[in-house]
Amino acid sequence: IKDTIRLNNGVEMPRHGFGFFLITDEDKGREAISQAVRSGYRSFDTAEFYKNEASLGCLLKETEVPRRELFITTKIDNALQGYDSTLRAIERSLKDLQIEQIDLVLVHWPSKKHFFDTWKAFEKLYDEQLVRAIGVSNFDVHHLEKLATKANIMPAVDQLEIHPYFTQTRLRNYLQAQGIASEAWSPLGRGAVLGDPVIAQIAESYGKSPAQVIIRWHLQSGTIVIPKSQTPSRIIQNANVYDFTLTDEEVKAIDALDRKDGRNGPVPDEVFEEI
Ligand code: A2P
Repeated sequence: IKDTIRLNNGVEMPRHGFGFFLITDEDKGREAISQAVRSGYRSFDTAEFYKNEASLGCLLKETEVPRRELFITTKIDNALQGYDSTLRAIERSLKDLQIEQIDLVLVHWPSKKHFFDTWKAFEKLYDEQLVRAIGVSNFDVHHLEKLATKANIMPAVDQLEIHPYFTQTRLRNYLQAQGIASEAWSPLGRGAVLGDPVIAQIAESYGKSPAQVIIRWHLQSGTIVIPKSQTPSRIIQNANVYDFTLTDEEVKAIDALDRKDGRNGPVPDEVFEEI
């Protein structure tokens, strides 16, 4: 899975990575990472909140894939936002992941209280080359506009809930205009979208699974995609999406599945309730 996107600071990031959320069991994790590596994945997405950075670090070491071939993303936990605490937290992430430099760090959710402090810490980490790129997650237009009033470096990536029932077209168009790459979390819509009849019909016509059609839709829409699975056969399946191409009409038919109530995850402004 070699296709990359050039981020706004020139760093090349794989378009198709592996989501390491909710995998905390060491044996399951080992099986998943070893299968993911064998299936061609080189980009891995974790977060402090997932409590599996140390496990991912060990498991990637075990695979013996050279570090320069890997692209590792992690995210600063909400509870650790702020200038000093971000610097300390990323130091710990580096240690846990057993690497000298993180490829991409993201602000996991937009806070109001520590908004600029966290970002200033990211800019320092970037200047010191402890991270190769800095970005955000779950930021909407108003968060990015606020960030732009004080940031010296704009985010390279915004990682969002995006899937066919929640396409975020307005936000994605804004990101594109700003030179910020869109990345989809929960790209399969936590399973709900997998049973959609429009997707099922397209899948059948190519002899592919609904998940494979959805992953293609993300890739053809220009979105970085990080499907997650603990099931080896699905890990193989989700990587095997490079032998067919959706037509423009099929992409549009999937775009049209967007729903007002399609969001599965939290509303970003409601995550930090205390502020
Ligand atoms: P599992 O880990 O048991 O294989 P999302 O990333 O949209 O949140 O979806 C993740 C969920 O989708 C996981 O529960 C995962 O289950 C499931 N999943 C991942 N890949 C596939 C697939 N190819 N077919 C069906 N379900 C899948």
